[in-house]
Amino acid sequence: MNFDFNTLLKGETTDIDISVRGWVRSFRNNQFIALNDGSTNQNLQVVLELNKFDDALLKRITTSACVMASGKLVKSQGKGQTVELVADNIEILGDSDAEKYPLQPKKHSLEFLREIAHLRFRTNTFGSVFRLRNALTYAIHTFFQERNFLNIHSPIISASDAEGAGEMFRVTNLDLDKLPKTETGEIDFSQDFFGRSANLTVSGQLEAELAAMAFSKVYTFGPTFRAENSNTARHLAEFWMIEPEVAFNELSDNADLAEEMLKYVIRYAMEKHADDIDFLDARLAEEEKQKPTAERAEFGLKDKLNFMLEHSFERVTYTEAIDILLQSPAYKKKKFQYDVNWGIDMQSEHERYLVEKHFKKPVIVTDYPKDIKAFYMRQNDDGKTVAAMDILAPGIGEIIGGSQREERLDKLVQRMNEMHIPTDEMFWYLDTRRYGTCKHAGFGLGFERLVQFVTGMGNIRDVIPFPRTPKNCEF
Ligand code: 4AD
Ligand code: MG
Repeated sequence: MNFDFNTLLKGETTDIDISVRGWVRSFRNNQFIALNDGSTNQNLQVVLELNKFDDALLKRITTSACVMASGKLVKSQGKGQTVELVADNIEILGDSDAEKYPLQPKKHSLEFLREIAHLRFRTNTFGSVFRLRNALTYAIHTFFQERNFLNIHSPIISASDAEGAGEMFRVTNLDLDKLPKTETGEIDFSQDFFGRSANLTVSGQLEAELAAMAFSKVYTFGPTFRAENSNTARHLAEFWMIEPEVAFNELSDNADLAEEMLKYVIRYAMEKHADDIDFLDARLAEEEKQKPTAERAEFGLKDKLNFMLEHSFERVTYTEAIDILLQSPAYKKKKFQYDVNWGIDMQSEHERYLVEKHFKKPVIVTDYPKDIKAFYMRQNDDGKTVAAMDILAPGIGEIIGGSQREERLDKLVQRMNEMHIPTDEMFWYLDTRRYGTCKHAGFGLGFERLVQFVTGMGNIRDVIPFPRTPKNCEF
């Protein structure tokens, strides 16, 4: 039988002798231990009979001490719990000095908890966040596996720049104090570990495309790295991305798949972890109360998630989106900080306006100007736009970016030349267009942005265990 607290607290089995282990959340009246094992935010109450245990032992039952308790699991007499453990033996597995323990039993700010990220797992908020993160991981794999997608492990070290953005971390084992130089004075990467310059990957897409040309339906789920110096609540230097790639799909199929996937994983998380969602819903409502009325979110967390499940996403072209912005009261009253015109890379204020003010639901924007998008996107007949799609979510902005890919060799080579992407080095990518090319499409879901959306956490640093951001690589 499974003795994790989540199972025990359902109260389906009582009057059994068991041993449990966990960490002390609180100890009241020398009698009641609230014990937690991380399987749920609910604590198991361990009841100590008065005068049965030594004072010396009782003193060691401090906040965050690790304890084993043995006894009988019974239906609870008191309020607030279904079952409790009446202990006849307590063993301290690991002491904890309550005076020095950094997590005091009071409300700490998220900023402070980030500084003690090695301990924040033990709080209710982070317990809920990381159980939901886990559930979303499971749901993503299940969604794709049920649909016969093949999971591909794309490489983490890569010599190509998939996004053409140039914001990459170099991987080298050259001695930085004695860098070998070529005759022309550049660093001689032929002497480096891989015999060429290499980086941490920014995306597994190009490799996923190769696999899709054999397996038809594939997806990656792995870490990606971007050396963007953006210190925002939505950017990490190391984040996880899910990238499905599907042969024979066009842009509208791609949008359908993304919408179906998002709804599936959100529904799964809500059903499997209703307690955690309830907890975070209440937490967010409390946080919102501290804000001035005008800044408060229109929806609570649960309402927002339910709304997402019940409505289809709005689909508009980039050109239509720009028109909406140009016609908006916000634009006419000069409320936007950044200008709006056809060709701009929309700023987050523009995306938020579309999603939160205009449509009030997730929006799929398609057919962006080719000059603000990557080289691999399929060129539309108008000569100006490409078959790109971004999915914008309330409170998050861009959660998914994707496209139909350029499968026509001549068009792809022409675009790579225009964008100064070396076609010789990328022979392997072009080979798929030489040998049995076909229409295909895919997208990338930023996993932490999804976790943010589902948990309602405002800062992306609070949905990954150990965030990596500019000037921060602790733990
Ligand atoms: O839009 P992006 O850059 O698209 C790609 O990388 C494509 N290769 C995906 C594909 O078509 N297969 O990134 C995809 C998503 C974004 O929508 C965003 O959710 C997330 O990845 N993302 C980040 N998340 C956290 N921190 C960052 N610095 C991120 N950059 C992108
Ligand atoms: Mg993008």
